[in-house]
Amino acid sequence: MDRIRIVGGNPLTGSIPISGAKNAALPLMIAGLLTDEKLVLHNVPRLADVSQLQRILGNHGIDITVNGKRRGDDPYSGQTMEIDARVIVDTTAPYELVSKMRASFWVIGPLVARMGEAKVSLPGGCAIGTRPVDFHLDALRALGAEIEIDAGYVLARAPKGLKGAHILFPKVSVGATHTAMMAASLAEGETILENAAREPEIVDVADCINAMGGRIEGQGTSTIRITGVPRLKGAHHSVLPDRIETGTYAMAVAMTGGDVMLSGARADLLDSALDTLRECGAEVTVSNEGLRVKRNGAGISPVEVTTAPFPGFPTDLQAQLMALTTRARGTSKITETIFENRFMHVQELARLGARIHLDGEIATIEGVEKLKGAPVMATDLRASVSLVIGALAAEGESMIHRVYHLDRGFERLEEKLSACGAEIERLAG
Ligand code: EPZ
Repeated sequence: MDRIRIVGGNPLTGSIPISGAKNAALPLMIAGLLTDEKLVLHNVPRLADVSQLQRILGNHGIDITVNGKRRGDDPYSGQTMEIDARVIVDTTAPYELVSKMRASFWVIGPLVARMGEAKVSLPGGCAIGTRPVDFHLDALRALGAEIEIDAGYVLARAPKGLKGAHILFPKVSVGATHTAMMAASLAEGETILENAAREPEIVDVADCINAMGGRIEGQGTSTIRITGVPRLKGAHHSVLPDRIETGTYAMAVAMTGGDVMLSGARADLLDSALDTLRECGAEVTVSNEGLRVKRNGAGISPVEVTTAPFPGFPTDLQAQLMALTTRARGTSKITETIFENRFMHVQELARLGARIHLDGEIATIEGVEKLKGAPVMATDLRASVSLVIGALAAEGESMIHRVYHLDRGFERLEEKLSACGAEIERLAG
């Protein structure tokens, strides 16, 4: 298994290109199941999760081609992916595949809407919590699907098609909003989703479905109105920039000090995290090129932050912020409200010398002057990158094990950081 070696202490200076968003690319690929015409996605990041979903869609008989790189192409430009779901040969998503990536459960919406049936494995637990799928199933039931659970599989049937409905989510869920929105776009009549997720990735998928001939309004607000259409057609769509990758590198710069341009980043996708970064003492400026983050001289100020659905502070940046606050001049408090067990990084950050006290959903972080390099273990995607941030500022060498977690969601991380002066390398095997 690959490891990443980091020798900390260097400030970051230069430019980091921001890739397409993983959490938009995955549902966009799944939206390709909604049509028998070609969906062409641009700016798709090269990530392990994207390749995994390619395999899962391949299992349904979907033909996916990815345009190879040509000589002279920018090594960081995203890939173009053509998804051809003309023929769906199999409506089953097996356990072996779904258990490797939870988002693949979301195929259930388009499959039942277009094919009238789907058999999808329940995803099971994961490192950040129990993560049930009851909201997805309730939404499909409301749209008229019959749902049965048998031997670890969800069987969803709607042989006569789905019907528009009024759905009120009990709690904001990104995935359940995707499922309901995709399914409703091929249902008969109008669907209203209330307490829907407002995340930019939802807006990206809704915009793509509209480019495919769908009729979705209100995306980006908590009420989404979908008028079902009998069929959707092919389209071209470009994946929006990754706000979590943007926030992660911004926090890395705030941690090490330096001056970095995050090119292609969109500030409007992460206002709340940028406010927190400014509070921590980073200087953030927005330009046409992207986002420039600087921290020169001044120390890191402590903060109090609670994670919340968009537009609140994202849970996907909670671990990275925690790494940053380990070196703040004072005590910070981070409350995690989205997932009950998303603190796996705490013990590993402690190995670098961080002082963190956990009490239920609240972490209290007492800033220390110095972190010290150590061997640490990646436990999930965002937890892993928080260790990278810690190690970049720690004195001496850190070795991060199990970096396959990082490869799920960060494209060319070592290259992007070393180009800005970090001492970081991947060791194979
Ligand atoms: C998405 O997961 C993201 N994944 C996660 O990113 C992200 O952390 C999360 O949204 C929250 O922003 C992708 O986009 C691929 P939810 P999702 O449904 O949709 C509860 C990363 O690191 N819930 O919004 O699975 C759930 O347990 C990942 O990139 C139910 O109770 O999250 C949680 O407490 C990890 N029943 C809350 O809702 C349900 O049926 C929000 O989860 C569904 C969710």
